Amino acid sequence: MKINGQSYRTIWPDPADNSRILIIDQRQLPHKFIIEPLTTLNDAVVAIRDMHVRGAGLIGATAGFGMHLAAVHALPGKVQEALEEGLRLLDKSRPTARNLKWAAERILETAKNGKSDDEKKSIVFLTACAIADEDAAFCKALGDHGVKIIENLSRAKGGETVNILTHCNAGWLAFVDHGSATAPIYAARDAGIKVHVWVDETRPWNQGSRLTAWELQQEGIPCTLITDNAGGHLMQQKMVDMVIVGTDRTTHTGDVANKIGTYLKALAAHDNNIPFYVALPSSTFDWELDRGSDIPIEERSGDEITTISGLAGNGSIETIQLTAPETHALNYSFDVTPARLISGLITERGIVAAEKEAIHRLFPEKSSHDKKE
Ligand code: MRU
Repeated sequence: MKINGQSYRTIWPDPADNSRILIIDQRQLPHKFIIEPLTTLNDAVVAIRDMHVRGAGLIGATAGFGMHLAAVHALPGKVQEALEEGLRLLDKSRPTARNLKWAAERILETAKNGKSDDEKKSIVFLTACAIADEDAAFCKALGDHGVKIIENLSRAKGGETVNILTHCNAGWLAFVDHGSATAPIYAARDAGIKVHVWVDETRPWNQGSRLTAWELQQEGIPCTLITDNAGGHLMQQKMVDMVIVGTDRTTHTGDVANKIGTYLKALAAHDNNIPFYVALPSSTFDWELDRGSDIPIEERSGDEITTISGLAGNGSIETIQLTAPETHALNYSFDVTPARLISGLITERGIVAAEKEAIHRLFPEKSSHDKKE
């Protein structure tokens, strides 16, 4: 995807030295574009925990490269132990996105095929790269499927602009490239379909206003920022043709955990007969959890609610206090939208109903994972 006309991914190994992994520090966007090197497992853990990187797919890719950094610094003969420690520390960094553990476990398992330290390290690095490449490819593919929904809406409107509402940032910044919720939008733009995006601000971390609006502007997609509470009104006024959001973890029964506030959008969409789609690469499915209510919901510091950061007049990024100093704030980061409110899941293999049988028909090889030992 493009930043000021130049193509980037959100994470990549330094071509001159693959023990340096490069990321875009998303805490500084859209005001400052800073590329940050990660050189140790701890750097990767901190980058995920403190949200230098965020979004399910990118968290997974960072976990993959974090495992690579753990292997790089492993003591002789101790690569597998270093990877086990890597999985343990990464798994604690953020709880909700399924991709994190999926990526770290995949690396731990594939490394077992290596017979020497060097062979293990090489397998780990190549697997981390494969996870990142797959993430980008899967997002591109789900865009190719999802665009058909937008195409149909455009046809029904006689070619007039299709208005799409999204919540949080499930754009390319949340993945390695393309994004999940944004991939069908980018594909629609490429197909010459007129689209406009309503971008929820997404308090408290402001992924919508800081990241999605910026990302869409970079891509030349018309978009308008709205407050988190505006969506229901816009839907009643027939200003929204569809909703597309991402997800951090989706049960194999179709319940979806996504950024806090998603559930309220789904309720409003349901009440107004507006299609509500969730886009995800299959790495976001949890094949073991039956109920969305069992998904661990991250609780972050209340400071994210009582303060706000932005660009000050002197060009520095500053944080100011919004509330009385002793205000107690409760900051759940995600909520669960039940499958019954979801029109469909857009995956790399196609669009599927948010229900167990249909999901398992599309991913038959996962049925054996159902209720894993
Ligand atoms: O807290 P974040 O920014 O890591 O939250 C993740 C998200 O960006 C959203 O919930 C998103 O809609 C799904 S992740 C692709």
